[in-house]
Amino acid sequence: MNIILLGAPGAGKGTQSKNLSERLKIPQISTGDILRANVRSKTQLGQKAKEYMDKGVLVPDELVVNMVADRIKDADCATGFILDGFPRNIPQAKSIETTLDGMNKKIDGVIGIVVDRKELLRRLSGRRVCKKCGASYHVIFNTPINIGMCDKCGSEIYQREDDSEETVEARLKVYEQETAPLIDYYTNRDLYRAIDGIGGVDQITNAIIEAIDKGNNNT
Ligand code: AP5
Ligand code: MG
Repeated sequence: MNIILLGAPGAGKGTQSKNLSERLKIPQISTGDILRANVRSKTQLGQKAKEYMDKGVLVPDELVVNMVADRIKDADCATGFILDGFPRNIPQAKSIETTLDGMNKKIDGVIGIVVDRKELLRRLSGRRVCKKCGASYHVIFNTPINIGMCDKCGSEIYQREDDSEETVEARLKVYEQETAPLIDYYTNRDLYRAIDGIGGVDQITNAIIEAIDKGNNNT
C-alpha cells in the first residue's frame, strides 16, 4: 500500500504518518525529517537545504526527488510506504510516478488532511518535536509526560526553527501556491480523499484507514 499524505503545515501529516506506520506496518517517509537530519549532521545536502528551509520555501526539486527515489527502493518499502510531505508540487508528483512506474508500482491513495488556518497557526506556534524520533508534541494540547523529554524515546524535544511566526506565514503561502494544486491533480486521477483533520488523533487515523480501505475496494 503506497500512500501520500497531503496537507498544509501543521495539518498533522507527521502525527498521522507515525500512527499509520504502526497500524499498517509500513514505513513513514518524511522529506522534512530527512532534510532536518541532514541539516543537523551538516551533510552537503543539509547545508544546501538549510537556506531554503529557514525561509519556509521549498528545497529545489533536484535535491529531494532523488532522495525519495532512493528511499523507496529500500527493502522495508517493499510492501508499501507513507509519503509525508512529498510530493509538494506537480513536478515532484510526476517524478514519483515515473520512479514507481519503473518499479512496476503505483500510488494507491492520496489522503488530504484538512485543517483551517486559525487551527494551523495554533498548532504550529505551540509545537515541540523530538530531536531523535521526530514525534510531535504541543505545549498545551499534547504535552509530554516529562517536560522537555520525548515519551517515545526519552530524547530532548525542541521547537523547530521554521515554526517562527514569520516563517510559518511563508510556509502557508508556499502550500497554497505550490502544493494545493496537487488536490486537483490527484482528484483527476481518482486518488484523492479529503479527511477532516480536526478532532482526536486516533479518531482521524481511523478515518484515514477507512478512506484507504474504501479506495482499495473501489479499484
Ligand atoms: P515539513 O517538515 O514537511 O513541514 P510542513 O509541511 O510545513 O509540515 P509540518 O511538519 O510543519 O506539519 P505536519 O502536517 O507534519 O503536522 P504535525 O503532525 O507535526 O517541511 C519543512 C520544510 O522542509 C519545508 O518548508 C521545505 O523547506 C522542506 N521540504 C520538506 N519536504 C519537501 C519537499 N518534498 N520538497 C521541497 N522542500 C521540502 O502536527 C503539528 C502540531 O499539531 C503538533 O504540535 C501536533 O502535536 C499537533 N496536532 C497534530 N494532530 C492534532 C490533532 N488532531 N489535534 C490537535 N493537535 C494536533
Ligand atoms: Mg511534519
